[in-house]
Amino acid sequence: MIEMQDVWKTYTDGSHALRGVSVRIEKDEFVYLVGPSGAGKSTFMKLIYREEVPTKGQISVNGFNIGKLKHRKIPFVRRNIGVIFQDFRLLPKMTVYENVAFAMEVIEAPKKVIKRRVPEVLELVGLKHKVNSLPAQLSGGEQQRIAIARAIVNNPSVIVADEPTGNLDPETSWGIMKLLEEINYRGTTIVMATHNKDIVNTIRRRVIAIEHGHIVRDVVRGDYGYDN
Ligand SMILES: Nc1ncnc2c1ncn2[C@@H]1O[C@H](COP(=O)(O)OP(=O)(O)OP(=O)(O)O)[C@@H](O)[C@H]1O
Ligand SMILES: [Mg+2]
Repeated sequence: MIEMQDVWKTYTDGSHALRGVSVRIEKDEFVYLVGPSGAGKSTFMKLIYREEVPTKGQISVNGFNIGKLKHRKIPFVRRNIGVIFQDFRLLPKMTVYENVAFAMEVIEAPKKVIKRRVPEVLELVGLKHKVNSLPAQLSGGEQQRIAIARAIVNNPSVIVADEPTGNLDPETSWGIMKLLEEINYRGTTIVMATHNKDIVNTIRRRVIAIEHGHIVRDVVRGDYGYDN
């Protein structure tokens, strides 16, 4: 469960990215974050995975007050949150297997567990046959599937996806959405920022719209609500 109470984020240069956001997202939810460029969507997500801390207000993820977290506790909370980016961010010199295994090594998972788990998630994303490929040898959609495998490998309770289909063609995007729906169906909360009108209007889920750092709309089975 994610909860924000009157969260403000002002960056050091004075930009007010969020201005008093209060919201509650339950465990089984799939939430789209929509809104114009610069509205505060990425900031909202960075606060969830503790890339940034709020200037004011409280944010809790699974009961942890993440703005006030002691440094030694950060890795513990982060392993419970998988992050997916528009530009995939795979490590270019590592194979597919190594990219996914690395996410388990950093949390010091036992070797035996890594060996069993990595093929399992690669199977789930349909890319078991690419274990030995390098990211540059994969298509964009395949790279995003690997990034998703990496995000879910430690069984996080929350997935934060910042425009995960932003660099992909429509058909590949639908494939990525199917995968995210499946992951949500298995019990993982998903918060996804997107500018993809077709996706939001077709796969209907909760829509939270942010404008100028405020939540201006929050609808259970909402639509995209903007022209593009
Ligand atoms: N690191 C930063 N330092 C200063 N200002 C920032 C920083 N990151 C974001 N901002 C500012 O905060 C505001 C919100 O940015 P944010 O990246 O959250 O928007 P967004 O909704 O994700 O936009 P987009 O749809 O273009 O990705 C913008 O005005 C932006 O310029
Ligand atoms: Mg953004």
